[in-house]
Amino acid sequence: MADAPFYYHLNLLACKKPRLGYATALLQPMLERADALGVPCYVESDGATAFYQTLGFTTRVAKRFGGDDGPLVCFMRRNPRQALVSAQ
Ligand SMILES: CC(C)(COP(=O)(O)OP(=O)(O)OC[C@H]1O[C@@H](n2cnc3c(N)ncnc32)[C@H](O)[C@@H]1OP(=O)(O)O)[C@@H](O)C(=O)NCCC(=O)NCCS
Repeated sequence: MADAPFYYHLNLLACKKPRLGYATALLQPMLERADALGVPCYVESDGATAFYQTLGFTTRVAKRFGGDDGPLVCFMRRNPRQALVSAQ
């Protein structure tokens, strides 16, 4: 993203009523904009990797913090769909 003129930062994501499509509906416009701009997106997740995978994110690094019983944080990346298409 070195050449990107800006970035969006969504700090926290949580839905009171799960599995109704709300989080997908919130993120989809941002992902479509990222696709249009051809830029990747990143998330850090300690319990929602399955959800982010449905949006095209993959775990690049997983690190456990604070000892053996600490949270496992996954650093995930989603390539822009245009780049995926042109790379095939
Ligand atoms: C993660 C979270 C934001 C997802 O919100 P949501 O509105 O439930 O997500 P959606 O309804 O758009 O889910 C889309 C798909 O993601 C997957 N998914 C969502 N939650 C999932 C879960 N807990 N486990 C496995 N898959 C999940 C499912 O495939 C789902 O589609 P389906 O319900 O048709 O099977 C919500 O579960 C949440 O608030 N979790 C607690 C807080 C949290 O972990 N936030 C993320 C911190 S990084």
